[in-house]
Amino acid sequence: MTKISKILTDRRTIRKYSSKTVDDKLLNELLAMGCRASTTGNMQVYSIIITRDEQKKKDLAPLHFNQNMVSEAPVVLTFCADFNRFNMWCRMSKAEPGYDNFLSFMTGAIDALLVAQTVCIAAESKGLGICYLGTTTYNAHKIIELLKLPRGVVPVTTVTIGWPSEKPEQPDRLPLEAVIHRETYSDYSSADIEKYYKAKEGRKDSQQFVNENNKETLAQVFTDVRYKKEDNVFFSRILLQVLKDQGFMEE
Ligand SMILES: Cc1cc2nc3c(=O)[nH]c(=O)nc-3n(C[C@H](O)[C@H](O)[C@H](O)COP(=O)(O)O)c2cc1C
Repeated sequence: MTKISKILTDRRTIRKYSSKTVDDKLLNELLAMGCRASTTGNMQVYSIIITRDEQKKKDLAPLHFNQNMVSEAPVVLTFCADFNRFNMWCRMSKAEPGYDNFLSFMTGAIDALLVAQTVCIAAESKGLGICYLGTTTYNAHKIIELLKLPRGVVPVTTVTIGWPSEKPEQPDRLPLEAVIHRETYSDYSSADIEKYYKAKEGRKDSQQFVNENNKETLAQVFTDVRYKKEDNVFFSRILLQVLKDQGFMEE
């Protein structure tokens, strides 16, 4: 296996970090590699906020529901869809930007996620550990306030980075055939679903999850505990308001 195949195949999310710092030179290297990712029209409609300051991390932590990684990781990166900078450039160049719409938010979000994932691979290739925080889109309005994000900028994901102080067991994945469709989508039969989810359901950690949460099935842990409809609806409303407030729902 080449090195990159090994890095991609052996990776796992790291949520515990040693106290060793990630120096600016290394971080800049990771960010420069990240910014080499493909970007829509080469517009680079994203920004990355670096949080290193202990107090700022403490302020950020509750906005990520106090997940320990935020205060414990030496570096927290918030990746944002950003049309603010590009719009300014357009206006200063006698060009009228037409980016106050949902499609443009998606463009910025896709760009931001591609940079984020490339930074993650770069970090993992250096032996660092990373963890994504999906809580960014839950509390985007509060993160906007704390990080002073102007109109045109919406945080879409956060990544904590540090030197690993754990090596957790690698989580499962569905078999490749479960997620691959050849030429057109071939919809699943109930038998396919049973087959594809059998191994996941049979894992010891899955069964522990079911028992701990007093549920009957693993799927119920997702629908009733981890990703509940009422939460999804609540945080969707907030996010839609954020998109309005940040100027992405004008048309
Ligand atoms: C968009 C996104 C959001 C995530 N949010 C969180 C999070 O808030 N907290 C956390 O501990 N892990 C988070 N993760 C990590 C996933 O839980 C992890 O990738 C998944 O369980 C598979 O584990 P692995 O990355 O070790 O293969 C997130 C991952 C992604 C891609």
